[in-house]
Amino acid sequence: MTTLTIRRPDDWHVHLRDGAILKAVTPYTSRDFARAIVMPNLVPPVVTVADARCYREHILASVPQGHSFTPLMTLYLTENTDPNDVEAGFRDGEVTAVKLYPAGATTNSQSGVRVIEKVYPVLERMAACGMVLCVHGEVTDPAIDIFDREAVFIERVLEPLRRRMPELRVVMEHVTTRDGVDYVRSAGDSLAATITTHHLIINRNAILAGGIRPHYYCLPVAKREEHRLALRRAATSGDRHFFLGTDSAPHLDPLKECACGCAGIFSSLNTLGCLAHVFEEEGALDRLEAFVSLNGTAFYRLPPNEERVTLQRHEQPVAFPRMIETDDGLITVFDPMFPIHWNVAGEAG
Ligand code: DOR
Ligand code: ZN
Repeated sequence: MTTLTIRRPDDWHVHLRDGAILKAVTPYTSRDFARAIVMPNLVPPVVTVADARCYREHILASVPQGHSFTPLMTLYLTENTDPNDVEAGFRDGEVTAVKLYPAGATTNSQSGVRVIEKVYPVLERMAACGMVLCVHGEVTDPAIDIFDREAVFIERVLEPLRRRMPELRVVMEHVTTRDGVDYVRSAGDSLAATITTHHLIINRNAILAGGIRPHYYCLPVAKREEHRLALRRAATSGDRHFFLGTDSAPHLDPLKECACGCAGIFSSLNTLGCLAHVFEEEGALDRLEAFVSLNGTAFYRLPPNEERVTLQRHEQPVAFPRMIETDDGLITVFDPMFPIHWNVAGEAG
């Protein structure tokens, strides 16, 4: 059996939700990841440090006994966010990052930012104290084709913002295009990007060819094959500017399988198995640790995890559940469309 021992990974972008879904999904994240940057797009959103403190308690109450897991809290940036609250939360270690959602870009983003100038005071304060801004990098202009929204965001919003505030430390979340990868590569050390597991595996055909498959619909939407290949090269290169953010984003099945389905793919349950498969396919298993355990930690200026985990490759595919049950209903698990032979030693699926 092939095995690979690496430092325990972190997930630099995950949605844990609240209530019944939080209870059902958190154990998968806390089982495989030491820390996770938890997205704040609840209803209502996590906008103040007091909100984050309360949400963190809910999360910790959902972590099973015996798992050691630290949720890293984020604040949802609004045009009314108070720079003093943000800075105090960061200095006290209660919040790690702030998330910028352009209003209307994705799930529960209606309280997000419409006019970027209105949040300059918060961003300037973050730049001064070294706090990370996580960015959902898509424009919302209805005139821009959905497949071009990331590239246009870089040109219209991100590049001007970074020119104005070169000190601001930015993570382009869930980068999905070659344009995004090239931009991150060409920028200095104040810019990095997360890459999801699913964007390394699917292109837009998975959603649209041969029938519409809502469980592959997420935002930013998967792009053409050339973009997936660019993401694979970036993730498996070892380049420290790229690291894992699963963007595991559970929605109850009826809310995905309907006339106007929600965006989001639930992948925390089998992410490490999928990634080992991808890195093995690319002949880059020796760089998996950089992507899942080292690069993100370095960008966030946190110490790497000391604990080690062993991934193992089985002769027979590992039987992961196709869906999980919550008290509110079923959630479908990401299907990578290949048999997964890898799992974490000691875990059933
Ligand atoms: O697919 C997505 N789902 N993309 C996002 O940006 C948000 C997320 C969610 O919260 O469901
Ligand atoms: Zn997300």
